[in-house]
Amino acid sequence: MATAMDRKNQEQAVAGIIKAMGVSLKNRGLYPSAHPLVRKPVEQCLDLILPFFDASNELALVVSDDTFVLEGVPVFSITSSLEFFMNRLARIGVPALIFERGLALEDIDLFIRFLHETKAEGLSPEEIRERLLAAGVKRIRVKKADPESDDDHAVARSIYANAVSVVSSVLQEIQSGRIPSGADTVRVVTDMGGMLTRNRDALLALTLIKNFDEYTFNHSVNVAVLALTLAGELEIGDEAMVEVGVAGLLHDVGKTQLALDLIRKPGSLSADEFEEIKKHPEEGFLLAGKMSDIPNSAAYMIREHHMRHDRSGYPKTEPGYRLHQHTGIISVADCYDALTTLRCYQPPRTPSGALQLMEAEAGKSLNPQVVAQLRKALGEYPVGTMVRLNTMEVGVVTATAEGAKAPRQVAVLFERDGKPMLRPEEVDIDMGEGGAGAGRRVVSAVNPLLFPYAAAGTYLNAAAG
Ligand SMILES: [Fe+2]
Ligand SMILES: [Fe+2]
Repeated sequence: MATAMDRKNQEQAVAGIIKAMGVSLKNRGLYPSAHPLVRKPVEQCLDLILPFFDASNELALVVSDDTFVLEGVPVFSITSSLEFFMNRLARIGVPALIFERGLALEDIDLFIRFLHETKAEGLSPEEIRERLLAAGVKRIRVKKADPESDDDHAVARSIYANAVSVVSSVLQEIQSGRIPSGADTVRVVTDMGGMLTRNRDALLALTLIKNFDEYTFNHSVNVAVLALTLAGELEIGDEAMVEVGVAGLLHDVGKTQLALDLIRKPGSLSADEFEEIKKHPEEGFLLAGKMSDIPNSAAYMIREHHMRHDRSGYPKTEPGYRLHQHTGIISVADCYDALTTLRCYQPPRTPSGALQLMEAEAGKSLNPQVVAQLRKALGEYPVGTMVRLNTMEVGVVTATAEGAKAPRQVAVLFERDGKPMLRPEEVDIDMGEGGAGAGRRVVSAVNPLLFPYAAAGTYLNAAAG
């Protein structure tokens, strides 16, 4: 959908989808439901929607300021049937519709029937959701109107994606023998820092999505996000924060210079491979030193990121060698992301499992202050932790309160009887002020491996909003 022609086709399709639903809805008031004038537009509608699923699992239709917006394409050519349809949605209280992959004729037909038969006005999204399920609509759902946090998730995703593309182009440049500028790196680090101030959970949740194919790129961005989070907690100042973020993003850049193609190999290594890999911090130091805009201190942190707090790592140092004061931040961020990532030889650890393991290493291979800060930053139940509620529901923490002190929202994946939900449902956790939450409290963390359905990564995607 990149070219102008594509965009035009897309707009026409969007207008066609809404018009077809409007026509069907209008005619349902005049003809029996099996009548072609009711049925035909439903078929047209499905034909127009299906191509959208080539690129995405879902198609979002939002009613905003009297305008339909389908996948970011506003529909301005208002016809009478379109207006009729829009008014009906607005009257019932539907804020946004999501069409899911697998959508069938039946879903659209039953949905139109629901719109036709529902006389109630101003329903809440929960009420609409229940009524749609009761009406048998499976692949069309309403979305809770939560524009602010939706917005944050969208911004966080685009900042994250941008950082991935900067890292990948830096690495590609280097692999083809050029020295790239560091200006883009500094810019995305600044963006990430800003996003962490605005909504930390939104960006942190994305670090839980591990993409095996793009391991190095995602790992680099994750380490930068985690390092920036730690730097923020440690209040090291704006300039030092950028240095730490840049070091996080480029910490493994030296792997591009290795004789073996280890850059895409996240698994266990042979002894020879390990000797080779030990060269990457020094190679990274040299490369970062040649790039414009990269602060010297970032280059030092790159050189030192595997030396370890007790110097048990590599490269080996002279006695009395002092690490850069912020190297420990990069090492801790690197370690946490590696532990929570699926490797060929180990299942990923949960956020709390990784934290426990790292706490056992605090003061040994890891800097104890930084590990303590990571615990403080992520909280007892970090975003992405699978938890059991007092209601016996099981879900994933998606937002925390008061600087991660307590979970604030959980995406429920399993109902109280253990049955998997059709799709995650976000619920508020009772913050003890008699507000939202309906008495829900987090009782304990649970091992996602006990829930194979969720262990496949569903729970991490749920956490990313
Ligand atoms: Fe490394
Ligand atoms: Fe790394």
